[in-house]
Order: sequence, then structure tokens, then C-alpha cells
Amino acid sequence: MFVGRKRELEALDRYYKQDAFQFAVFYGRRRIGKTTLINQFRKDKKAVYFVAIESTAKENLELLSNQILSTLAPDAPKNPFGSFTEAFDYCFQTAKRERIIFVIDEYPYLAESDKAVSSILQAAIDKNKDNSKLFLILCGSSMSFMENQVLGYKSPLYGRRTCQFKICLLHTMNPLKCFRVLPTKRK
Ligand SMILES: Nc1ncnc2c1ncn2[C@@H]1O[C@H](COP(=O)(O)OP(=O)(O)O)[C@@H](O)[C@H]1O
Ligand SMILES: [Mg+2]
Repeated sequence: MFVGRKRELEALDRYYKQDAFQFAVFYGRRRIGKTTLINQFRKDKKAVYFVAIESTAKENLELLSNQILSTLAPDAPKNPFGSFTEAFDYCFQTAKRERIIFVIDEYPYLAESDKAVSSILQAAIDKNKDNSKLFLILCGSSMSFMENQVLGYKSPLYGRRTCQFKICLLHTMNPLKCFRVLPTKRK
């Protein structure tokens, strides 16, 4: 059962309804609820959801290609794209016609598998953002990576994001808050 995150979901829906390119950055500690929130947001929407793995660029490209084609061209053969440039371009091009959410979860693993990925993504954003309705989401649990290498001034992606969500502990899951809501009986 999904609980809470009302404020985040309302904000995401507002951005979604704008029907223009969006680039959201999600970050926060592991097991804090980032993936669950993204899954709740993308429910009933057309969305490519890819979780990067701690592996080679080749393997990540194969998995990414499979996710993109399964969602956007289910009847096409699942041949991997030749490069990340081609894979990202395919998403941006398809999103010229319709709103598509494109999630890269565990983004630091992808960026570490190929040092050029953030630059490739930056080039795709700059080329397509004015005529694509892609809703790009990069998500990561490594706070330092996301703050420095995605949001930070030295990142190729600096200044491209249209919104960011630092995901914190849910109040309803915080035992201290529960204690306050349910005080113990005094005798
Ligand atoms: N909003 C929520 N409602 C209910 N359960 C949640 C919620 N957010 C997280 N959880 C639970 O906490 C666990 C960890 O969440 P997850 O989204 O996988 O974290 P993260 O992606 O940040 O590592 C999940 O198993 C999920 O069931
Ligand atoms: Mg996760």
C-alpha cells in the first residue's frame, strides 16, 4: 500500500500537465522511498523505466534498449541501440508526438559505466528540449554523486533540470512521529 508523498505527487502532476520538456532529479538515501514514489507517479502513464546496474556500459545499453523498445515499440525486434546517443535520441524523438516519462533509476551506476553519459545526455537535452515532451527523471541514492555530478556546477547537466526532489523520511514511517500521534496512557 502506498502512503503519503502528497506534496511531491501534486508537484509532479503539475509539471506533467505542462506538456513541455521536464527534467526532474530525485535523490535521497537508499531505502527512503524514491523508486516507490516514481512508480506511483508513473502508474497509468506511458513510461520507460530503466534501472542501471553496476556493470559495463555494454550491458547497461542492452538493458536500456530493451526497456525503451518494450515500451515504445513493443512489436519491433529488440536489437540494442548502437550507442547511448541513439537510445536517448529515440526517446526524445518519440516524445515529440506524445508525453513520455523516461526514468533512469540508479543513475550513478550508468554514469560510472560510461564517463561520457552525462555529456551525451546534456547534448540530447540541448538539442531536443524545445520540441520534445519528454519527462526525464534521473534518480540516485548516492547523495554526493547526485549533488556534485548531476546538479553541481561542474556537471555537464548543470542548469538543465527543471525540478528536483530531495526525498526524505516519510513522517508516517517515523516512529518518533507515531509516538507523538499515539501517546501512551498515564495511570
Ligand atoms: N510511500 C510509500 N508507501 C509505502 N511503502 C513505501 C513508501 N515508500 C517506500 N516504501 C517502502 O520502503 C521500501 C524502500 O523503498 P524504495 O522506494 O525501494 O527506496 P529507494 O528507491 O529510495 O531505495 C520499499 O520496499 C517500499 O515498500
Ligand atoms: Mg530505488
